[in-house]
Amino acid sequence: MSTQPAPTPERSGALLDGRVIVVTGAGRGLGRAHAVELARHGANVIVNDLGVALDGSPGDGSVAQGVADEIGRSGGTAIANGDDVSDWEEAAHLVATALETFGRLDGVVNNAGIVRDRMFANATPDEWDAVMRVHLRGHFCVTRHAAAHWRELAKQDGPVGARIVNTTSGAGLLGSVGQAAYSAAKAGIAGLTLVQAAELRRYGVTVNAIAPSARTRMTETVFADAMAPPSDPNQFDPMAPDNVSPLVAWLCSSESRAVNGRIFEVEGGKITLMDGWQRAASHDEGRRLDARSLEAIVGRLVDESPAPLPVYGS
Ligand code: NAI
Repeated sequence: MSTQPAPTPERSGALLDGRVIVVTGAGRGLGRAHAVELARHGANVIVNDLGVALDGSPGDGSVAQGVADEIGRSGGTAIANGDDVSDWEEAAHLVATALETFGRLDGVVNNAGIVRDRMFANATPDEWDAVMRVHLRGHFCVTRHAAAHWRELAKQDGPVGARIVNTTSGAGLLGSVGQAAYSAAKAGIAGLTLVQAAELRRYGVTVNAIAPSARTRMTETVFADAMAPPSDPNQFDPMAPDNVSPLVAWLCSSESRAVNGRIFEVEGGKITLMDGWQRAASHDEGRRLDARSLEAIVGRLVDESPAPLPVYGS
């Protein structure tokens, strides 16, 4: 896999100066790109990665250290952490590591993920549990520990100005053939984002999510054509993972304070603010509905509503 070289190593402005940010699954792919970008903008980064294979089985445990070293060589500040984000105690250790090392915590980028793709009729409970565990429970565990810390701080000193960036997916927002568990977990993360945003606002914490698209080991084989780099290396490479990271850096900054509970698709140089479930059309009978009249009523509601966007791969 080719990755774009990291953008200029010098720190650019004060967007994140002194902020302390945990990035999960930051040993490669999108997480690595986010960690590098956050550090470039002056953040102290905790590069978390368990170093597993794409399906979550044991892999190269040294990737987090490799990214922390890379950031250090560029003049940034980062430490490596190998905790499993889906383990309650290890997630607590990850948050404690940030606090013990840097004395504060300003943001969490929940990015760690795995895939176990399978057509639904063949899917196994083990695959289902593994995908749910890393994505949904992983998002829960790390943020839950961070949120408890911020709530305590807010009670003493007022709003904390902290940031959560979650990672959903087009698969979670629209569905994706062959990815039932992954789509369900990512849809769960979208819903989780809405509730966290509503609940944590009072402590001065904003919560938003991205649905990225980029060339990583997760996508480079399955979507080989769409993910291919340009043949001319001087051309803009829209699928390079580091294109996604400027939005993550901005969402982690104090400038994004007014943006909360939003979900952004991001790919190449394009950001799309997604619009969630809406009441598209409704009918009120004013009394108990009769099943025999629903063919006409539901038919009219469907006709009056915009057609849903297609499920990926359908
Ligand atoms: P990747 O496989 O390159 O990176 C994921 C990283 O998460 C790996 O380094 C892995 O070791 C780590 N990880 C897995 N389980 C972990 C755990 N329990 N604790 C700590 N670290 C763990 O994949 P990629 O593409 O960079 O994905 C990053 C995120 O973006 C994932 O949540 C993925 O679902 C999401 N995403 C990616 C898309 C893409 O186009 N690449 C599209 C939509 C969503």
